[in-house]
Amino acid sequence: MRSVDQTVSTGDLPEWDRVKAFVDQAYRHSLDVHDGAVTTRIPALSQADPDLFGICVAEVTGRTYGAGDVDHPFSLQSISKAFVYALVCEAVGHDVVMDRVGVNNTGQAFDSVMAIELNDGHPMNPMVNAGAMATTALVPGDTPEAKWAFVQQGLSRFAGRDLRLDSEVYASEATTNQRNLAIARLLESYDRLDVDPVAVVDVYTRQCSLLVNAHDLAVMGATLADGGVNPLTGEQVVPASACNDTLAVLATNGLYERSGEWLFEIGVPGKSGVSGGIVAAAPGKGGIATFSPRLDTAGNSVRGQRATAFLSRSLGLNLFASKVHPHSRHR
Ligand code: DON
Repeated sequence: MRSVDQTVSTGDLPEWDRVKAFVDQAYRHSLDVHDGAVTTRIPALSQADPDLFGICVAEVTGRTYGAGDVDHPFSLQSISKAFVYALVCEAVGHDVVMDRVGVNNTGQAFDSVMAIELNDGHPMNPMVNAGAMATTALVPGDTPEAKWAFVQQGLSRFAGRDLRLDSEVYASEATTNQRNLAIARLLESYDRLDVDPVAVVDVYTRQCSLLVNAHDLAVMGATLADGGVNPLTGEQVVPASACNDTLAVLATNGLYERSGEWLFEIGVPGKSGVSGGIVAAAPGKGGIATFSPRLDTAGNSVRGQRATAFLSRSLGLNLFASKVHPHSRHR
């Protein structure tokens, strides 16, 4: 599939003062959105303040700018899937993850059992729970502890600082995640997991419980947008090819069964989590993170979608947008 070296063409963010002004405008523009509801899926998360709201943009140069609750910690939840996937793409390679995990949208909810049954036990893509657990199963390490260390250290390298587990959120999910255990057992029954399903669910639950804030998340997104180099630390966290694979999967699956609407309206690869975070990565330009706990019925932050849509338009991030060139033949 990859016989020719990839030529890359992206672009730049607008001048930094304009970026800052647009972030402030996106914040104000989205503050009056009160639709959606805080998740009840994980008991500890249901206590979140619904009015929390933060936005942060991180440029690939390392500049960052935020508005609102940018320092408020929240657990990564499903957003962890994107970064673990990037690490696993490097560790086991493009073809193995393509074969074992897949890339196609299920059209079903993120925790669907039916999607697995309809697809002969195939997890379909790494952004639904089945595929995320199949991905975590591919993490290098002979023991669950070694796999967890790989994930915790890898995600910390994306953020540029040591990320810690929220033990309350972890304990809360670990005692209520019967459905994820059932999904892992179902994959096992189809011979789609080579490791102990209970241990995989535990590492997956831990990765979901890692705490970040909007600033961290923007830097993590910018790392995916920057060919795998963290723009704060300068570290090459994953190769550019792993970012390419990850962003393609985010474009098609990052917002679950609403991924088509997201791509149509916003046009940037993104990933949401049930605690209210959304990260978007504009290749070659930077990362955008939003945090607001009220979710739509698919599990995506409502305000976060509004703010990211505003920034995609104002910062020129939509990958599908073009305009007529001044030297076009018919001008
Ligand atoms: O596995 C779960 O169900 C949660 N730890 C994460 C779900 C999630 O974030 C879905 N996102 N919107």
